[in-house]
Amino acid sequence: MNKDKNIILIGMMGCGKSTVGHLLDEKIPDFQYVDLDKEIEKEAKKTIPEIFAQDGEAYFRELESKTVQRFCNYRNQVISTGGGAVEKPENRAIMKENGTIFYLKADVKTLFDRVKKTSNRPMLFRENPMEAMKTLLAKREEFYKEADFTIETEKKELLEIVEEIVNEYEKRLHKD
Ligand code: S3P
Repeated sequence: MNKDKNIILIGMMGCGKSTVGHLLDEKIPDFQYVDLDKEIEKEAKKTIPEIFAQDGEAYFRELESKTVQRFCNYRNQVISTGGGAVEKPENRAIMKENGTIFYLKADVKTLFDRVKKTSNRPMLFRENPMEAMKTLLAKREEFYKEADFTIETEKKELLEIVEEIVNEYEKRLHKD
């Protein structure tokens, strides 16, 4: 199996996975962009906040794992994952097996500034959403760091980030 046939983007809410994913898709011929959160919503026929409110987080995580499993089995994709997809060891194992993983790293303040205006992140529906963000990042950082590449996104233009990912991906492809 050629695990380098998927590019998988991981990182916290607001780190730019979807934006970078779309740009990568335009840049790499024959690759298809998949946003796992969108796929979960399609499958459930509900928005993510509705899933959390009606069925709970545990149910959302089950759907998330199934979606990770399903899409990692295909090839030639740029996959953007939800921020919590790294928490389950089985998700991490499948992603490692089936793709080159890029962690889009940003400071908690940047992340929070990007998502605070939106109301579609149930993990932040807390009395103190900034604290919730910090706690989640602290819990997940060790998993994010298992990525093949950590891409520092602070103070970089989007296109620089995209170029860095394409370069690393191509280098790795030719090395194996
Ligand atoms: C989540 C992040 C969201 C989405 C869900 C849960 C999380 O995706 O999967 O709201 O646990 O961090 P984004 O990282 O794309 O915002």
